[in-house]
Amino acid sequence: MLKWVLAASAVLAMPTMASAQDVEAGQKVFAQQCAACHKVGPDAKNAVGPELNGLSERKSGSLEGYNFSPALKTAAIEWTTENLDEWLADPKKKIPGNRMPFPGVKDELKRGDLVAYLESLNADGSSK
Ligand code: HEC
Repeated sequence: MLKWVLAASAVLAMPTMASAQDVEAGQKVFAQQCAACHKVGPDAKNAVGPELNGLSERKSGSLEGYNFSPALKTAAIEWTTENLDEWLADPKKKIPGNRMPFPGVKDELKRGDLVAYLESLNADGSSK
């Protein structure tokens, strides 16, 4: 039993231990699946979707100058590692009624890399 608990907590702790390679792989996933609607980096502006700099210091639907759905605003969840992962796995399930036309990243590894990449961006678009 104790052995099982230790193994389970090691697995749960994994997403927070991002390596440089995860971030690089995550950047590729972002370019392929998110960049059509979302901008990041120092010059990022809101597009079809809101810019995604400094997400870990933001609450859902809180960025000024972007017209969020009521669903995302009233959810007002913090973009923690866990919430981001669940949102990107299945946006409709995590926050029903949101307006992001995206089915989700089903591959767990790719999603982990993507979250690591998003968490590597400061609010001003520079990298941590
Ligand atoms: C086809 C366009 C589109 C694609 C592709 C897309 N998004 Fe979005 N995204 C949106 C829109 C529109 C919203 C705002 C939804 C709302 O207001 O309900 C949004 C909202 C978000 C938010 C919430 C931001 C906040 O400030 O609360 C995050 C995080 C996000 N998207 C991440 C991603 C990531 C990461 C990807 C790639 C895997 C992605 N999105 C792909 C259009 C898109």
